[in-house]
Amino acid sequence: MRSKVVAGNWKLNGSLAGNESLLKALLREIPRDNPVACVVCVPSPYLAQVRALLEGAGIAWGAQDVSRFDHGAYTGEVSAPMLVEFGCRYVLVGHSERRTIFGESDAIAAQKYVAARKAGLTPIFCVGETLEERDRGETQAVLARQVDALLQAYGAVGLERGVIAYEPVWAIGTGKTASAAQANEAHAFIRARIGAKDAQVAARLPIVYGGSVKAANAAEIFAMPDVDGGLVGGASLVAEEFVAIWRAALGR
Ligand code: 13P
Repeated sequence: MRSKVVAGNWKLNGSLAGNESLLKALLREIPRDNPVACVVCVPSPYLAQVRALLEGAGIAWGAQDVSRFDHGAYTGEVSAPMLVEFGCRYVLVGHSERRTIFGESDAIAAQKYVAARKAGLTPIFCVGETLEERDRGETQAVLARQVDALLQAYGAVGLERGVIAYEPVWAIGTGKTASAAQANEAHAFIRARIGAKDAQVAARLPIVYGGSVKAANAAEIFAMPDVDGGLVGGASLVAEEFVAIWRAALGR
């Protein structure tokens, strides 16, 4: 049985007061011991606050990016060991907004994954095609390129204790969702690509879907055999929505 993960990506949103009321609302609904990991990935300045509110509860936390370097003259970077000091268990790596807006390459994303794993974090490695790439029939080629960068950097065994997020760029923040069948097809392709290197790692690897996941569509997408939960943007900022999405992954 693969573990399931529902992670919220707050992106560049939040405030001390708003975070507190959102997290307190989540804490009322998410039990301490639960079979589906519930995670919030927050802007780094809020990690101390989030840790104080969530320590010992059933919600894990993480950051949205990590440096590929551990320390040194790298102005503006935040390293994986620093995230560990703030109790992070997860970190997003290679989100399409990092790739497209901040010019992060496949190779840099893979190096960030390695840095996160070496520090003991669970990286959530994001892959996905743009609309133009899908229209040109290049979805699988793009996913292969992104996944292969990771396999080359770290090997299939390095994907143990990691998570992959399939986030078609055209579905992020647009209200358009991949159909359950489209999501499953992409997830199965990613799993097979990794499975060609190591079948056991691929079989155990959680692959979550991201891109306009809402309470209204989560159950249908999460019911697909190769979909192991979700990475949720906008809807993770609304407690009732995020809790309902997490419950959909529980299957009830
Ligand atoms: P939305 O759920 O807002 O489409 O964002 C998806 C995403 O980018 C999660 O990382």
